Amino acid sequence: MAQSLLVLHGPNLNLLGHREPDTYGHTTLEEIDAMLAELVAVRGAKLATFPSNHEGALVDRGQAARGDGTDFIVVNPAAFTHTSVALRDALAAVALPFVEVHLSNVHRREEFRHRSYLADLAVGVVCGLGVAGYRSAVSFALDYC
Ligand code: DQA
Repeated sequence: MAQSLLVLHGPNLNLLGHREPDTYGHTTLEEIDAMLAELVAVRGAKLATFPSNHEGALVDRGQAARGDGTDFIVVNPAAFTHTSVALRDALAAVALPFVEVHLSNVHRREEFRHRSYLADLAVGVVCGLGVAGYRSAVSFALDYC
């Protein structure tokens, strides 16, 4: 059966390309998703992407991954990284392997960004590599599954 990946994008990532480009770059979320779709298609795998500004919606989509054949999750929880026990609990409940991605190097930024509620549950964390971080996480997921 084909591998199936889910990519979750957290709040404000819908503004990528326009939002603080010095920090997050000039690539839009649509361009990132298209890049990932190509990467996954080459490997004959399946990709679902889900962007939301809403914590509950991300929790619901994460939970749904339990029964929909998803093998691996790549998640940029954005600001919810630093706040969301709910998203942590959802990913723990789903018990699927996941990688946490950040475009920016959160450890070079404000102290409140140094803490992640998800990282200790993740297979790995990629940060500071910009769009290449998403690509690396998805390539890793394809090899992992
Ligand atoms: C981010 C880093 C977070 O601290 C921030 O809240 C984001 C984006 C990143 O990709 O670098 O929205 O997750």
